[in-house]
Amino acid sequence: MDTMDIIKKRRSIRNYTNEKIDENILKEVINTATIAPVAGEFQITVIENQELLEKYNIVIKEFLKNSPDENMKAMGENPNYNAFYGANTLVLFSAPDENPFGGLTTSLAAENMILAATEFDLGTCYMVSPIFPFNDGANNDLLKEFNLPDGFKPVCAVTIGKISPENENPKRPALDNVNYVK
Ligand SMILES: Cc1cc2nc3c(=O)[nH]c(=O)nc-3n(C[C@H](O)[C@H](O)[C@H](O)COP(=O)(O)O)c2cc1C
Repeated sequence: MDTMDIIKKRRSIRNYTNEKIDENILKEVINTATIAPVAGEFQITVIENQELLEKYNIVIKEFLKNSPDENMKAMGENPNYNAFYGANTLVLFSAPDENPFGGLTTSLAAENMILAATEFDLGTCYMVSPIFPFNDGANNDLLKEFNLPDGFKPVCAVTIGKISPENENPKRPALDNVNYVK
């Protein structure tokens, strides 16, 4: 697919099938995240362990339940809500606390893999909600299971998987936020 077509086609997918992604395609997609513009260290953790994802889902929902935000609270309390929208693979991007560009670097890496996944008709959703439970040094036991280098903290995450035929995307509103200075 042409680059422009991929960029226009990409949407956040919030409904996945449970089908496994082809291992070689997954590797090819993940590799694109390693060749994005980079400033400082970061780590890419591909979580395919279903037990760990289930534990992680519970931790996120528990965090949401206790949120003062009504929408977040409702998500946490909804028994049908899955924090990864049913995707069986989560790509977690982490960086050392002292890297001031951790958020920027990991997000550029994430966008690379998101566009690459679109080329292979895989769905993705860029998310920050999976990092909330680790704010304030909480949930260290779960964090240890990600086997990150010392001092690294999750910064953002991307779900990846086969798109469910039931997935629906709302129309994206056109933004009026470009100005040219000539
Ligand atoms: C910084 C940031 C954080 C986001 N966090 C979440 C999230 O936690 N959960 C989620 O479902 N989507 C999240 N999104 C995805 C946006 O909701 C989505 O990109 C936006 O609604 C536009 O829709 P589209 O991606 O389909 O074009 C996030 C996007 C950004 C840029």
